[in-house]
Amino acid sequence: MKQAVTIEELRQARAGLKGRLGFVPTMGFLHQGHLSLVAQAKQDCDAVVASIFVNPTQFAPTEDLDAYPRDTPADLQKLQEAGVDLVWLPTPEVIYPAGFNTWVDVEGVSAPLEGTMRPGHFRGVATVVAKLFNVVQPDMAYFGQKDAQQVAVIRQMVSDLNIPVEIVVGATVREADGLAMSSRNAYLNTDQRMAATVLFRALQAAQIAYKAGERNAEALRGLMRGTIEAEPLARIQYVSCAHPLSLQELEHVEQGALLSMAVHIGSTRLIDNLVLD
Ligand code: PAJ
Repeated sequence: MKQAVTIEELRQARAGLKGRLGFVPTMGFLHQGHLSLVAQAKQDCDAVVASIFVNPTQFAPTEDLDAYPRDTPADLQKLQEAGVDLVWLPTPEVIYPAGFNTWVDVEGVSAPLEGTMRPGHFRGVATVVAKLFNVVQPDMAYFGQKDAQQVAVIRQMVSDLNIPVEIVVGATVREADGLAMSSRNAYLNTDQRMAATVLFRALQAAQIAYKAGERNAEALRGLMRGTIEAEPLARIQYVSCAHPLSLQELEHVEQGALLSMAVHIGSTRLIDNLVLD
């Protein structure tokens, strides 16, 4: 597995990769969710590039940039075992050199939900992903359904800016008890880890009601809220039942609607979602 840090190193190594190129951007501290995207890329493509970059511009000053978990040696081993051809580990200076002054602002779909709770977050995500795409020049790029709004933002950006990359979305990988895998799960202590299953339980409660015929979106949001409020360690930031592309809240639920939520367990902020089928 080749490694690159600078733009020049990445471009040179990328030039040696032939055929259809798959790309998996990450912030590291890799788990099975990330590796499922790598596995999918391996299946679809002739060569796979992964990046590890904890992108400072998608964290608000009050957020966990400094505390964000990192373990580059373990990540490199996992990527090597997964058969990645090239890993890019840029420094903040490589991505944001002195004088950097261009931002990608995806309007509309960035505004609700995560956008309301984390102002500026998707501007940082869209900007870094646009830069990563420009340097890596992949044919396909892989993103997790775990971050459903991120997928919607990237799709809008790729379409609006005519970026020639096919976006592929991988299913959310979960622990045995339903908790969606996340690098931030490392923040949870034993009691909090047990409480954290409440996100998936709330999504399931709403899905069961939907399957039983409930079509009132506010009723589904109420069910999710009720489930989460019964867990003493959990604090709701939002629960949503929205259109999967516009992310606008629904009144009447249709097939394909996106149930999503952000919940604090202690000081750890967790998100999860589920598409109704
Ligand atoms: P990160 O949180 O490291 O996630 C990298 C990719 O893995 C994202 O596409 C995310 O949706 C996916 N992922 C995370 N947990 C998953 C799970 N349990 N199942 C399936 N996929 C999962 O998302 C980011 O990094 C950053 O915002 C990034 C796109 C790299 C831009 O900085």
